[in-house]
Parts: sequence; C-alpha cells; structure tokens
Amino acid sequence: MELNRFSLPVAAAIMMINASLLLEGCLEEERIALLHVKTSIAGPNHMASPLLSWGNDALCCSWVGVSCDNITGRVNKIVLFSVTGWFISSTGGLSRDVLMGDWYLNATIFLPFQELNTLGLRDNYMAGCVANEGFERLSRLDKLESLNLGLNNFNNSILSSLEGLSSLKHLSLDGNQLKGSIDTKDFDSLSKLEELDLSRNEIQNFVTSTEHIILETSKS
Ligand SMILES: *[C@@H]1O[C@H](CO)[C@@H](O)[C@H](O)[C@H]1NC(C)=O
Ligand SMILES: *[C@@H]1O[C@H](CO)[C@@H](O)[C@H](O)[C@H]1NC(C)=O
Ligand SMILES: *[C@@H]1O[C@H](CO)[C@@H](O)[C@H](O)[C@H]1NC(C)=O
Repeated sequence: MELNRFSLPVAAAIMMINASLLLEGCLEEERIALLHVKTSIAGPNHMASPLLSWGNDALCCSWVGVSCDNITGRVNKIVLFSVTGWFISSTGGLSRDVLMGDWYLNATIFLPFQELNTLGLRDNYMAGCVANEGFERLSRLDKLESLNLGLNNFNNSILSSLEGLSSLKHLSLDGNQLKGSIDTKDFDSLSKLEELDLSRNEIQNFVTSTEHIILETSKS
C-alpha cells in the first residue's frame, strides 16, 4: 500500500489542524451569543473597545477574554476587564474616557452560556442593569462560580439581584458605590461562597435583619 507512505503523515497533519480549529471554535449558538455581547457592551459609547476584534475570525474560543472547556467546547469563561470607555483620540491613539457616564448592563446576554464558570466585568462604568434584565436572570447558570463586578458604580440594589446565583464561590464587588448598612441576609442564599470582596466601598456596618445584631466593621 504505497498510498499510505505519504498520505498518513499528511492525514495526521490535517487531523491535528482540524483538532486545533475545533478547540478554538465554539458552538455556533455561542458564537452568535458572543456577537450579541459585543454589540450590547461595545456600543456607540465604547468605540475602540478591545471587544471590537470579536468576530474578525470564527475562532471564538480564542477571542480576547473568552475561554472554552477543552472537552465540551462550550464557553466557560468570559473576562471583560476595562473594555468600555475606549475611544480614538485626536492624535489617533487609544484613550480611555475617565469621565464616561454610567451605563446599564443587560445581563440576559450571558444566559446562552450554560457552562459559564467565570464572568468578569471589572472596571466598566456599569451603574446597574436595565429593568428586568439584571443578574437574577443568570440564576439558571448553575456552573457560575466566579463573578467579578469590581470597580464599577453598582449601588446596594445590586445585592438582591445576586441572591439567586447559588453556585457562586467568588464574588468581587470592591470599588463600587455600596453604602451604609448591608444586611447579611442578602448573602444567605449564596451558600457556597468562599470569597467575598466588598473593600473600597462606603459600607458602615453589617446588620442581620432578623436578630438586629450589628457587626461593626473597620472602614475599608
Ligand atoms: C483542559 O483544561 C484543564 C483545565 O480546565 C487543564 O487542566 C488541562 O490541561 C486541559 N487539557 C488540554 C489538553 O489542554
Ligand atoms: C436583553 O438581552 C436579551 C438577549 O439578547 C434580549 O432578548 C432583550 O430584548 C434585551 N433586553 C433589553 C431591554 O434590551
Ligand atoms: C441604585 O441603582 C439603581 C440602578 O440600578 C437605581 O435605579 C437606583 O435609583 C439606585 N439607588 C440609589 C439609592 O441610588
């Protein structure tokens, strides 16, 4: 079988290339959902966001900030730190608008990612979510273990919207606009939580509404 002498290595090489394409591509429905994330977050106010490179090729598992499970091929991490507020300055360089106004996230855009383990939206000028499209929508993502919302402008009302995210182990809300008294009941349903970062807010104390126990904290 002379044929095999050359064709086998060639076939092996083609298979390897195919395998790596599969690893870097994601499911069609998730690729489309990622493009929704792009248009939803990198809107007209974020004209030079790193997100704009999404969709230049079909290899969505290797798009900036996206990772996929290497067995199921499904998106398991979306980490979009500091992706909003970028614009092209008059000199043609990239600048970040430090005075950019607040905007409101539609959290439902992340619902298609059923295997999502990590969602990072740190430092994106977010002040909340649009009506009826808050983080409570993500309670069906039962693999979601890590949520980073640090360095945004969320106020105390964010806490009740996170109550249904019962698989969370790591939650960062540092550097937001949390103020005054925080009711520890807001975290009761997050029974798997191992790490909670509430630093760099203006929290005065934690109260437990049923028993009126007041735990004074050092001001962070
Ligand atoms: C698959 O991913 C796991 C962690 O998610 C990693 O430990 C492992 O090395 C990866 N395997 C390959 C073949 O990349
Ligand atoms: C939020 O996103 C979902 C999914 O893309 C969409 O169906 C819905 O209309 C959006 N809601 C608003 C208020 O834009
Ligand atoms: C907190 O943020 C929400 C938007 O998510 C807003 O509707 C509400 O008025 C804010 N509350 C306070 C006390 O500023």
